[in-house]
Amino acid sequence: MTAALIDGDAVAAEVRDEVRTAVEKLAAKGVTPTLATVLMGTDPASETYVSLKQDDCEAVGIEARDVRIDGDAPADELYETVTDLNDDPSVHGVLVQQPLPDQVNDDGIVRAIDPRKDVDGFHPENLGLLMRGNARYVPCTPLGVQRLLVEADVETEGADVVVVGRSTIVGKPLANRLLARDDSGNATVTVCHSRTEDLTAKLRAADVVVAAVGVPELVDGSMIREGATVVDVGINRVERDGESMLVGDVDFESAREAAGAITPVPGGVGPMTRAMLLVNTVRAAGLVEGADVELATLD
Ligand code: GUN
Repeated sequence: MTAALIDGDAVAAEVRDEVRTAVEKLAAKGVTPTLATVLMGTDPASETYVSLKQDDCEAVGIEARDVRIDGDAPADELYETVTDLNDDPSVHGVLVQQPLPDQVNDDGIVRAIDPRKDVDGFHPENLGLLMRGNARYVPCTPLGVQRLLVEADVETEGADVVVVGRSTIVGKPLANRLLARDDSGNATVTVCHSRTEDLTAKLRAADVVVAAVGVPELVDGSMIREGATVVDVGINRVERDGESMLVGDVDFESAREAAGAITPVPGGVGPMTRAMLLVNTVRAAGLVEGADVELATLD
């Protein structure tokens, strides 16, 4: 079997169209959804991510504020910036780009963001709401993975889903969402990680495999059940034949021979994560302004 490709670029374009429509409706009520990104320091990868987020916002009519802080500044300066953005009624979403310089405690900053403006969905209050089954914000990557599964007509109800990776921003929230009693949940979820014994046996029993572990090409075709769905969250830069290239957590070529459907890297989950930040920002504008927002992904 050669797997069907799940086209994240195409679904992300659909999501952006939905967001554009929601932004227009908010504009008619006098609301311009506004996202503030905060970048402390000059890490080149973070600079690229932040500028992509700014461009994505502008492409759908979301106002983007680009806040920069010197990488050597004291942690207090970042806390004061976050407090000012929390208090600014014209800002609906606040995103502090990680990783942060050593003098700043990442967890402290996540907690300092007003949970109603936490469009990353990383604040403990938002993770708690998600776990209770009434999420306010779902972190962008799990939200994107769920939408891809819906678009690929993958039935999660009763399915055996194996998530490889137990991070707080992907593996754990995604497992919770897939367990939820709703149309894109009701799965039987197993979460595997670096201490899991016999990963292959667990994966071969799965109807759906989500690889989110950050190990280049850990999952190969021999570990995939014939016809299973494979979602690759990994984005790993590796050197091959003297060239730098991006690979996922899945060995794409062998996995596509076994899988029924598979996401590529790039062009799978990555564009969905970016699109879902726009969804969460529009949702934030609706919440903060008390306005209704209709978006397929939030149903
Ligand atoms: N650094 C890498 N990915 C992310 C993300 O999704 N949110 C934030 N805040 N920082 C990141």
